Amino acid sequence: MKFFVDTANLEELEQCLRRGFPSGVTTNPSILSKEQRRDFRLHINDMIALLKKYDCDIPLSVEVFTTDPDEMIRQAEEFLGHFGHYPNLNIKVPVGWNELAVIAELRRRGIGVNCTCCMSYNQAVLAAGAGANFVSLFWGRIRDIGYDAGSVVRQVHETLRKWNSATEIIVGSIRHIADINEAMQAGADILTVPPKFFPQLCAHPKTDEAVNQFVTDFKKWQVADAEVRKAA
Ligand code: E4P
Repeated sequence: MKFFVDTANLEELEQCLRRGFPSGVTTNPSILSKEQRRDFRLHINDMIALLKKYDCDIPLSVEVFTTDPDEMIRQAEEFLGHFGHYPNLNIKVPVGWNELAVIAELRRRGIGVNCTCCMSYNQAVLAAGAGANFVSLFWGRIRDIGYDAGSVVRQVHETLRKWNSATEIIVGSIRHIADINEAMQAGADILTVPPKFFPQLCAHPKTDEAVNQFVTDFKKWQVADAEVRKAA
């Protein structure tokens, strides 16, 4: 199980990278649009600079921002022109009938693909069949329409395992901490998580209690030791 960071925010990304745990980074056009308006190519290159600063060669997904399949290929080429110096670049392509041809073409050219916006079993297994390196299932959005996201992830996981497929399942659209635990148990290979959840994920009141107890006991012992020395 791996954690990716679902962000385009440079500060949040750096906070995660300096803690060493991220196994990848995912962005999408909406996530990028939350950042200060600027040439998106400069922004992605700043993200790449951060990855390099922390010696990270981890998958970075950058998504096309069109619904036209030919334009998707053109944008993928453009991304490679601008960001191809980063060896672990993946082009994020939304799932769809015409989009499967885009995925297959990019894979024929040896370009990494993250097939995104998958909401169903069929979509994810077709994308894997087309050669996507990653299939991104949107946990929160699947649940929005009353479906059981856990069953979808479980079924995709089972099928890809039977196929001995190299495609990895990313679960995104995380809204609550509980989503993360449930998606892990359902068979996600990767969870892509908004940075705000990570501090919560590694916190526990019993940890605080234990650490405070250790520090307090040690301090008491030191004070007592100092008093014994003084009296001697
Ligand atoms: C995953 O790769 C996506 O960027 C993201 O998790 C989408 O989630 P949303 O439902 O918050 O838009």
